[in-house]
Amino acid sequence: MTNKEIYTPKNILVTGGAGFIGANFVHYWLKTYPDNRVVVMDALTYAGNVANLAAVESNPNFRFVHADILDYENSLKLLREENIDTIVHFAAESHVDRSISGPDAFIETNVKGTHELLKAAKSYWLDENPGMTHLFQHVSTDEVYGTLEANDPPFREDTPYAPNSPYAASKASSDFFVRSYQETYGLNTNISNCSNNYGPYQFPEKLIPLVITNILESKALPIYGDGKQIRDWLYVDDHARGIDLIMRKGRKGEAYNIGGINEWANIDIVNLVCDLVDQCIQDNPDLQKQFPNSPVCQGKTAKELITYVKDRPGHDRRYAIDPSKSNNEIGYQPVESFETGIKKTVDWYLKNEAWWRSVMSGEYQDWIKKQY
Ligand code: NAD
Ligand code: TYD
Repeated sequence: MTNKEIYTPKNILVTGGAGFIGANFVHYWLKTYPDNRVVVMDALTYAGNVANLAAVESNPNFRFVHADILDYENSLKLLREENIDTIVHFAAESHVDRSISGPDAFIETNVKGTHELLKAAKSYWLDENPGMTHLFQHVSTDEVYGTLEANDPPFREDTPYAPNSPYAASKASSDFFVRSYQETYGLNTNISNCSNNYGPYQFPEKLIPLVITNILESKALPIYGDGKQIRDWLYVDDHARGIDLIMRKGRKGEAYNIGGINEWANIDIVNLVCDLVDQCIQDNPDLQKQFPNSPVCQGKTAKELITYVKDRPGHDRRYAIDPSKSNNEIGYQPVESFETGIKKTVDWYLKNEAWWRSVMSGEYQDWIKKQY
């Protein structure tokens, strides 16, 4: 496919659509393309939550299916039933710390699960319906490229893979399987390698929502090592827009990097979020009533909660994306500024206390107790 031809999805299967990025993608997609059919398949692990999809639940073009990508037969049945032409594959174990304490689940879902899904896609699109227009859009990460030193140029699509965590290794492996299905069987695929996302519905084990929710409870804000590790932060809707552009305009078989052109050291992000949350609560008596344990209500500042802890093993120092290819070929640019994106995100967590309290109960409590 050349840059001039536009791919037009009709019936989309979104795996992992009850998770953070998947749910935001589903909202984006149904708003942007209301005539498309969107079927979410999600195993509802600790990170998946049907409440993330409540806003689209009654849309007749939407369907939720509780299923595991490891189940090849079930995926094939669903592809047939819904005449799926496009798979957008988000389903994964996604937290680096969990991949360090328990890598097996990452191999199962990210490697084996992706392969079972690729097999189902091949069976339906190539073996049963040869000639059918189709696309397997694989959602991956910039962590496959490993780590950068302060003055290294940012990751390009031709940067060699050098994954350092079991999470990154499992994603790298899944990228290679996707590539191999393109090269060996002729399955139409694209890969997106995206930097760190933030925004609504992110599980509060990841840095930004963890810091927001811990401040509201006056809990310690754990900073790994010296806190000077750098990430390239992207508002989640900009990721959805990037995937959309890759699907429609990307050359088949290609990988595209998606980033925020927005490098921040962890400690600077944490300081910024501390100031923002303090200010919101200071300015709003209703929030003072809602969060009486927050530092401002105790005559303190959120920054006093910052606690340096032991570094993460194998901790990547810096991630940064060179967005030239996606910019030049498909016209991608992030639209949300970090100032507006982070404010929206803080406001969302302040307004959705019931959501984060509910997702953080149960399994998450058991896991977090073992960490510190
Ligand atoms: P998440 O952990 O919030 O959500 C993952 C979803 O996948 C959950 O709904 C979970 O229930 C589901 N899932 C897990 N195992 C499954 C299985 N075996 N079968 C079916 N569903 C299963 O993750 P996220 O942050 O939304 O990330 C989504 C994708 O984007 C992942 O592939 C991740 O590698 C990639 N990614 C994430 C980021 C980021 O900053 N979060 C950045 C770049 C790429
Ligand atoms: P995280 O949100 O887990 O994303 P990733 O590891 O995929 O980049 O972490 C972002 C950065 O924040 C990373 O350098 C690790 C660091 N971090 C902390 O310092 N403290 C924390 O409690 C967490 C969860 C992360």
